Amino acid sequence: METQNKTDIPEEYKKGFVDFLGCKIDLSRRPLIPRPETEFWTKYAIVDLAALGASKIRVLDIFSGSGCVGVAVAKNLPLSSVDFSDIEASAIEQIKINCEINAIAPDHFRIFKSDIFAGIPKGDYDAILANPPYIDPSRIGQVQKSVLDWEPGTALFAADKGLARINEFLKQAKDFLTPEGFIYLEFDFSQKNDIIKIAREEKYLAAKFFRDQFGKWRFAKIFRQKP
Ligand SMILES: C[S@@+](CC[C@H](N)C(=O)[O-])C[C@H]1O[C@@H](n2cnc3c(N)ncnc32)[C@H](O)[C@@H]1O
Repeated sequence: METQNKTDIPEEYKKGFVDFLGCKIDLSRRPLIPRPETEFWTKYAIVDLAALGASKIRVLDIFSGSGCVGVAVAKNLPLSSVDFSDIEASAIEQIKINCEINAIAPDHFRIFKSDIFAGIPKGDYDAILANPPYIDPSRIGQVQKSVLDWEPGTALFAADKGLARINEFLKQAKDFLTPEGFIYLEFDFSQKNDIIKIAREEKYLAAKFFRDQFGKWRFAKIFRQKP
């Protein structure tokens, strides 16, 4: 919504693109601006996927937004096949653009418009990479004004203390993983104990937690079975 005191357009939108692990990520459809914290864990995910050494690696980038995570995987791991999904039509357009400008071969990716898993065909993924909306709406006062002014609210906020989408995601994700498959999940530093609880309730067998480059708990690697 246009407000009288709207902040200046973020530099990233003005420039029209950002670099994400060496990939040019177009922002013309105004998805969430990729964050350095996401780039940080995506690097680890790529290393883990490369270590699988499989001839074909199947990855799902869910809550894709710009597609930055999946594009970086596809670009760095030419043997991978990456599925992208998002609920927003503008994100679907944006992912297409980003796959094209990063020359991801058309037979190496698919894009689904989907409410979490509802529109994704059942598949055995080696990894599911997820950066869901996770900000608690009651903490709106702590979010930078330029983020609220310019970035899509559906990318940021989730009910139930920011845990609603994470909860739904973890309930279903295990049914889309190979037995050895794993999840990388980004979250707010305050949600670590909630995620331990949800992962236990949903019978994941192990979860490892990691801090971001700024020292805050930021992402988890969650295994369907004991690694
Ligand atoms: C935090 S952004 C992450 C974008 C990108 N992966 C990144 O890391 O920069 C979350 C994304 O989830 C999408 N989203 C929100 N609710 C969703 C839902 N119910 N199902 C699927 N995608 C959803 C939003 O449209 C947004 O693009």
